[in-house]
Amino acid sequence: MTEKPQPERADDLCPRPDFVDPGATRPISPPIYLAAVYQCDDPTQAASMLAGNEHGYVYSRDKHPNADLLAEKCRELHGADHAMICGSGMSAISAGALALVASGDHVVVSDQIYGRTLQLFTSELARYGVASSMIDTCDLNAVRAALRPNTKLIVVETITNPLLRVSDIASLAEIGRQHGAALLVDNTFAGPTICRPLEHGAQLVVESLTKIMNGHSDVLLGMICGQAAVWPRVPVVSTTYGLSASPFDCWLAARGLGTLALRMERASTNAQVAAEYLATRPEVAKVFYPGLASHLDHALARRLCGDRFSHMVTFELRGGLAATEQFMHRAKRIPFCPSLGDLSTTLSHPESTSHRTMPAERRAALGITGGTIRLSVGIESPAAVVAALAEGLGAS
Ligand SMILES: Cc1ncc(COP(=O)(O)O)c(C=O)c1O
Repeated sequence: MTEKPQPERADDLCPRPDFVDPGATRPISPPIYLAAVYQCDDPTQAASMLAGNEHGYVYSRDKHPNADLLAEKCRELHGADHAMICGSGMSAISAGALALVASGDHVVVSDQIYGRTLQLFTSELARYGVASSMIDTCDLNAVRAALRPNTKLIVVETITNPLLRVSDIASLAEIGRQHGAALLVDNTFAGPTICRPLEHGAQLVVESLTKIMNGHSDVLLGMICGQAAVWPRVPVVSTTYGLSASPFDCWLAARGLGTLALRMERASTNAQVAAEYLATRPEVAKVFYPGLASHLDHALARRLCGDRFSHMVTFELRGGLAATEQFMHRAKRIPFCPSLGDLSTTLSHPESTSHRTMPAERRAALGITGGTIRLSVGIESPAAVVAALAEGLGAS
C-alpha cells in the first residue's frame, strides 16, 4: 500500500473539507454545492467549459449545479426553451430588460405593475437612453397607439399588483409580434400552475421566486424563462451584471417548488372563499379578485387561468387609512408583511409599501387608497382564513 504524503507540520496546509463518496446509493435530496469556484484539470478544459463546449462548472457567477437544477424545474413548468435563476425577482426582470433593449429603444410598460419594475423602466433605464411609455395595457388600443418604430419590448404582469387586473397575453403577444416587439410577462402573482405565458405567445416570462414559487418567505430569488430566439443575451447579461443567485437559496427554492401545485391549489380555494366572504361585508367597499363574476376581467381570467385564480385578493375598506389601521390591529392572525406567497395568510398595504413611490394622483386614478389592503392568502383551512378576516373586521 502506498503511503499518503504527510505534511511536515500541521500548518503547512490550509485544511479543506474532503469529498465523501456516497458509494452505491444516491442521496434522496440533492447536495448543496456552496463552492464559488471549481478545480479544472488544465487550461484547455477550463477554456472549453467557459466557452460552453463541454459541460462543467468553473465559476459560480456563471453557473452552478443548484441554480441549474432549479432552472430546469422552472423550464419544465413553463414549457420554455431556456431558463435561468437570478438573485431576486428584480434581477430577473433586469436581466430580461437589459438583454432585450439598448440605448435608443422604447418600451411600453403597464401602468399597473410592481412599483420597483416601474421605477426600473421609467427612471433607471431612462438614464441609459431607453425611453418608456407607461400605459393601461388592459386597453389594447392604447397599447397599439403607444407603439413607436423603436419599441422593442412590452412589459406586463399576468395578474397585476395590487388591483389584480388580468393581462390579455395572447393579444398583447400578437400586437408585439406584428410590430417586432417582444412581450415580457411578470407571472409572479399567478405562477406556472395557474398560467404559462409562453404558451400564450410571450417571449419571456419572469417570476419572483421569493413569493409563492418558494413559498416559505426564506429566500430572495427570481427566474427568467424564454424562447430560444430572444435568449442569447440573457445569460451574458446575468453573469456580466452579476445577477446570479446563491446555491443555498436555489436549494431551498427547489425544495419549496416540490409543493407548489398543492399550495397553489389550496391557497386559490381559500382566496375564492375569502373574496366571497369579503364581498358580503358592509365594512368592505370593493373586492378585487379575478375569480369573482363581478371582476372586470373575470371572463379573460377564465380563459387564461381556468378555474383557479391565484392566492391574491385585494379589498378596499370603507374609512380609508384609519379603517386599515384598525383592521391591522384587530387581525392578530394576519401579519402585515409587504411580500406575498407565504404558507400563512399575510397582508400588505400598497399605498405605504409597494406603491409608495407612485405619485398620489396616479394611485388615486388607479383606485389605490389608504383603505386598500392586499391579501396573500395562505394554506390554512378556509374556515381559519375567514375567521382571521372576521377578527380584523370586528365581525367575529
Ligand atoms: C409582481 C412582482 N414582481 C417582482 C417583484 C420583485 O421580486 P423580488 O422582491 O424577489 O426582487 C415583486 C416584489 O414584491 C412583485 O410583487
